Amino acid sequence: MARETVTTLKEKKAREEKITMVTAYDYPSARLAEEAGIDMILVGDSLAMAVLGHETTLPVTMDEMIYHTKAVVRGAANTFVVGDMPFLSYHRSREDAVTNAGRFLQEAGAQAVKLEGGQEKLDVIKAIISAGIPVLGHLGLTPQSVHQMGGYKVQGKEKEQAERLLLDAKLLEEAGVFALVLECIPAPLAQVISRSLTIPTIGIGAGPQCDGQVLVWHDLLGITQNMKPRFVKRYADLYTHILQALKAYKDEVQSGKFPAEEHCFGMNSAFLPKLY
Ligand code: KIV
Ligand code: NA
Repeated sequence: MARETVTTLKEKKAREEKITMVTAYDYPSARLAEEAGIDMILVGDSLAMAVLGHETTLPVTMDEMIYHTKAVVRGAANTFVVGDMPFLSYHRSREDAVTNAGRFLQEAGAQAVKLEGGQEKLDVIKAIISAGIPVLGHLGLTPQSVHQMGGYKVQGKEKEQAERLLLDAKLLEEAGVFALVLECIPAPLAQVISRSLTIPTIGIGAGPQCDGQVLVWHDLLGITQNMKPRFVKRYADLYTHILQALKAYKDEVQSGKFPAEEHCFGMNSAFLPKLY
């Protein structure tokens, strides 16, 4: 299958064909996402929490993001890969933002970058786009601002907040983002925003009227064992499967059942040295 582009993704919206996106952080997961025919892979800064064990997304660095994006691109050469710009990689200056965004394409081989924020980020978004780098916007619950938001909460439930979100979405579209992630906003608001834009919206906790959906790899596959947020659907229970497999391995090694004959290499006994 040919890799999606910013153009084919917009065409999907026009045809009312849903866009599928999943996060991935390494080679095997990227291969699986590509084989499943997922439209877009996000190397999310959720890497910090899902893979690196941090409490928030804030600690993950540009170098870590690039390292993982490279692995994903090796596994999914025919899939549209988006690198997620980490905290403080696009906040200091436009120049810094363009340099960091460029690394995702130049060093890691991604097709686009994502960054969080609305009106206050228009300057850097325009600078990145004018460098020829496609930008995926991200509004609603923006985890890099967790401390400012006072926790992970649904955004846009009040009139003023809802209007702000719609305005931000319009401004991002005008600035030239090719699509927009909407995270944890009421479904009816996501519908209004999606209908007000010609670029696709990709929802996570934003209802079925978005033009596409994204989920975090570990959530969708049931690898994360801790509490499941309302918006996640687990399509597998890999945590339990992996745990069972590891326990079976441990038991079989301890009991001597593994390795069995079929796992062993033999040799001509004439060539076997004598016991020392
Ligand atoms: O980092 C991430 O995984 C994300 C998605 C949840 C949109 O930003
Ligand atoms: Na993210």
